[in-house]
Amino acid sequence: METLVYLDHAATSWPKPPEVAAAMMEALEHSGANAGRGNHSLAIGTGRVLVRARCELAELFGISNAQDIAFTHNTTMGLNMAIKGTLRAGDHVISTMTEHNSVRRPLEYLRRTMGIKIDYLQVDEEGQISLTALKQLFRPSTKMVICNHSSNLLGSILPVSEIGMIAKAHNAVYLVDAAQSAGVLDINVREMNIDLLAFPGHKGLLGPQGTGGIYISPELELEPLMHGGTGSQSESSEQPDVRPDRYEAGTQNAVGIAGLLAGVRKIKSIGIAKIHHDEWLLTQQLMEGLSGISGLRMLGPKPGAPRSGIVSFTVEGQESAAIAHRLDREYNIAVRAGMHCTPLAHKAAATLESGAVRVSVGVSSTEHDIKRMLDAMEELYGGACSSR
Ligand code: ALA
Repeated sequence: METLVYLDHAATSWPKPPEVAAAMMEALEHSGANAGRGNHSLAIGTGRVLVRARCELAELFGISNAQDIAFTHNTTMGLNMAIKGTLRAGDHVISTMTEHNSVRRPLEYLRRTMGIKIDYLQVDEEGQISLTALKQLFRPSTKMVICNHSSNLLGSILPVSEIGMIAKAHNAVYLVDAAQSAGVLDINVREMNIDLLAFPGHKGLLGPQGTGGIYISPELELEPLMHGGTGSQSESSEQPDVRPDRYEAGTQNAVGIAGLLAGVRKIKSIGIAKIHHDEWLLTQQLMEGLSGISGLRMLGPKPGAPRSGIVSFTVEGQESAAIAHRLDREYNIAVRAGMHCTPLAHKAAATLESGAVRVSVGVSSTEHDIKRMLDAMEELYGGACSSR
């Protein structure tokens, strides 16, 4: 069997750069104390790693004060903090058909338990929204606008700056889900009018699983999702009002954050623009090859159009899970099939019944990986699929 071709970077990036593993080993072996709990040198050393990671992330996302970033275990946790910490009974929310279940499920939970109102903005077949349609959805009770930066199924990139301007004009809190864009697309919370940014550490930022964060605008006050020890204001029964402690109850994943810090430094050394361009070129190579397979339908933006490193497709008469299974077992190629936790996007793409196969590239992907994928698809499903 040939070596593994990993094309599931939208789920988590892999392999991680050696620097990430080295930083985590270093943290485990030499600075593994509990940050903010105790004045001894080892705890202070761990605290420094957290401060450095916060500062690197702040610089990456155009955040003026690194204390406005709270670490989370993943994007889902940040989205839950933002959604449940902001919305109250009677509030109206605008979101989109391309949201992940990590947005949709907390919203539907609040609809069920406190009667919030939700509009999911339609997307066209390329995964794009209409800004005119967006403007028409605002009501006096609209409290929040929530959208992803890039769809985890379609690879479409939403106009987050324009949406931010519209949200601001309507005094709505603007939450962006950067699960598929952090480390891959430019993000500047000031320029994009983003009030809340939830991001993963383990995807484009190349950190380990169990890391992520949320930016909370200094003008916003979220009701904390978690209450507990912070190592600060311990005499009080209330959650501290200082940041980031207010939103970081419990021991932090310092070893993971040390890895995240190394991952962020790595992507900065390569450059976001280069990472995105290289990934885009790989998606174009993939799309060109796949277009030769009869009965294969690609989802999302057309060839040549902007997209993130995601290409999803269906093959007429074939189960998406069976395609992924054969790629894995017979060719050692890892892709993700099924619903991808985004049923509304599948509904928009008319793949709710069939599901789809998703190929997603990352910083470590190569032209050779794409060639292996195209060769496998040609052997399995025929047609004139190029094997460049
Ligand atoms: N949200 C991740 C994905 O799309 C896990 O696969």
